[in-house]
Amino acid sequence: MSSITIPPLSEDLIRVLIDADTIERKVSELSRKISDTYQDGKELVVVGVLKGAFVFTADLCRQLHIPHTVDFIALSSYGSKTDSTGNVRLIMDVREDLADKHVLIVEDILDSGYTLDYLKRNFSTRQPASLKTAALLSKPERLAVDITLDFLGFEIPDVWVVGYGLDYAEKYRTLPYIAEMRPVE
Ligand code: IMP
Ligand code: MG
Repeated sequence: MSSITIPPLSEDLIRVLIDADTIERKVSELSRKISDTYQDGKELVVVGVLKGAFVFTADLCRQLHIPHTVDFIALSSYGSKTDSTGNVRLIMDVREDLADKHVLIVEDILDSGYTLDYLKRNFSTRQPASLKTAALLSKPERLAVDITLDFLGFEIPDVWVVGYGLDYAEKYRTLPYIAEMRPVE
């Protein structure tokens, strides 16, 4: 007999905000919407933003009904552990040439929006056939730039969350659910 063990909340975590089943249903829904969007036969490149979006990107892509390739990009923004500054830096670029391809940027979470804003500007100079964005989570209260997502999973309050790819100081990325962190002093 086998059973799936859900890791218990550690003392740093307050509560499960979004459980694994709810995430799975949402990811399926988003995959369907994305598959329906790209029907013109042009190549689709899905670009996951490392590290936070690695789990979401993998789950999302495995349910797409249309041909696509997967690439990754790594960025960092200077600032404290839980506050981004708008100073975004490219750490690792995509390998694929994006010209004349549909590009879908996949992010874990839209917080201030500086990261996605930077990426959209950067990618739009590479002549893609189209450029769209997907994020699993968004914190509307924190948004500091004018940006609209094409595909969004959940809006959440202004709390620090971990799990399903998201971390706090590199911890908790592989939790199957999204949990709220206890605020750190
Ligand atoms: P933004 O540039 O402020 O929108 O921040 C985007 C990045 O900050 C995300 O891709 C995450 O890596 C990270 N981030 C923002 N909020 C959270 C959170 O609550 N938990 C974990 N990472 C977060
Ligand atoms: Mg990220």
